[in-house]
Amino acid sequence: MAIRTIIKYPQDEATLRKVSKAVDVFDERLGVLLDDLRDTMYKAKGAGLSAIQVGVLKRVCVVDTGKRYLEFINPMIVKQSGINKIIEEGCLSLPGEWGEVIRPNKVEVEFFDRFGVPQKNTYIGYEAKAICHECDHLDGILFIDRMQEQKAAKAQKKDKKRK
Ligand code: NI
Repeated sequence: MAIRTIIKYPQDEATLRKVSKAVDVFDERLGVLLDDLRDTMYKAKGAGLSAIQVGVLKRVCVVDTGKRYLEFINPMIVKQSGINKIIEEGCLSLPGEWGEVIRPNKVEVEFFDRFGVPQKNTYIGYEAKAICHECDHLDGILFIDRMQEQKAAKAQKKDKKRK
């Protein structure tokens, strides 16, 4: 059990932009990583944390939106629906930055637990949003990218209407 250092944007952007690798060994080291992620997330008072944020390039993340503690290894969002209206989104790697990001309200996720057992579950609301945020990290995507994307899409729509 240890608190790890959370890397930050923009100084550690090169790492945060990397695509994490799938886990294929479910050993004690993975368990230690998960425990450290959990403890580091709670210490930093975050709702989620991915391995890349502590500099480990593995498709591993933890989430706790205040409801329950969740662990995901090699998560894949296989279905999504609805729109989540929770406004403010933040990230432990971007302290002080908050913004509106549109996310699905319901996601179906396939993943493995820490013992390598395949799992499938559906999450709604804040949990769905937090899982999407963490899964983005595993692909090197930050919430500010989503904000920009959505802003651009909105502007384009407006532009089209004008024409
Ligand atoms: Ni984040």
